Amino acid sequence: MSEVSVRNLWKSYGDQVVLERLNLEVKTGEFCTVVGASGCGKTTFLKLLLGQETQSRGQLLLDGQPLPAEPGPERGIVFQRYSVYPHLTVLDNVLLALELHRSRWLGRLFGSARRRARERAIAMLDEVGLSASLDRYPAELSGGMQQRLAIAQSLVRPPKVLLLDEPFGALDPGIRADMHVLIRRVWAETGVTVFMITHDLSEGFKLGTRLLVFDKVRHDPQAPQAYGATITYDIPLRNRRPDDLPPELAARVAAHEPPCEASTS
Ligand SMILES: Nc1ncnc2c1ncn2[C@@H]1O[C@H](COP(=O)(O)OP(=O)(O)O)[C@@H](O)[C@H]1O
Ligand SMILES: [Mg+2]
Repeated sequence: MSEVSVRNLWKSYGDQVVLERLNLEVKTGEFCTVVGASGCGKTTFLKLLLGQETQSRGQLLLDGQPLPAEPGPERGIVFQRYSVYPHLTVLDNVLLALELHRSRWLGRLFGSARRRARERAIAMLDEVGLSASLDRYPAELSGGMQQRLAIAQSLVRPPKVLLLDEPFGALDPGIRADMHVLIRRVWAETGVTVFMITHDLSEGFKLGTRLLVFDKVRHDPQAPQAYGATITYDIPLRNRRPDDLPPELAARVAAHEPPCEASTS
């Protein structure tokens, strides 16, 4: 069954049509990268998936069922986007992501469960290069470090569908390459379905199994708000999960290298 189905989806704000006629079937474990001009509705699309916005027309189905109108606890387990809390330390921000998932109804973790969660959070923070900053607060971090903290939060325990809005934008090229390896590995290990917006087309090709291009196909110069963007290209890429790969490529993934170059085949 298709994990996410989008059927003739439209979103308007007042008389501004932002998205129109979106149709998409995404299977479990696909890694969709999303590109498109600034302001064309990419973030709006993620907000619709998250339930933070409601569509004006059309259907959004998860495993064939309409999404619940309100983003409730079950919805959060499926779709999640994290944000960094300023009053929590770096370590507590990542621990919170684990607590929200593991004991949504009990609240905090205790005893050995908490120790294990702590170890996992510290290991993830080490992977994003923040192990020296566990007790600092977000305001004490650089922009790039805050972004890496947000990445650690989303990847420490990914939900079934992970939504990432330009997660690597403010990072230096070297760190960005490290984050690419990290997200590919987490994706390969967990089987999470990913929607990731990027403004970097080459990043979209490199990371995704599928590249979605959002653009306007209809323009009315007299009424620029009359038409919205839609998915103009849906390009399958050759990036695969390790178990789909020939053994020598699987070994490269195991060694934390991206499995192969993307192509538009
Ligand atoms: N809450 C809102 N109310 C009114 N207009 C909005 C709202 N959110 C987004 N928009 C408009 O929708 C358009 C698409 O925005 P957005 O989804 O953020 O684009 P992108 O992420 O592709 O840059 C923009 O013109 C923006 O001004
Ligand atoms: Mg955006």
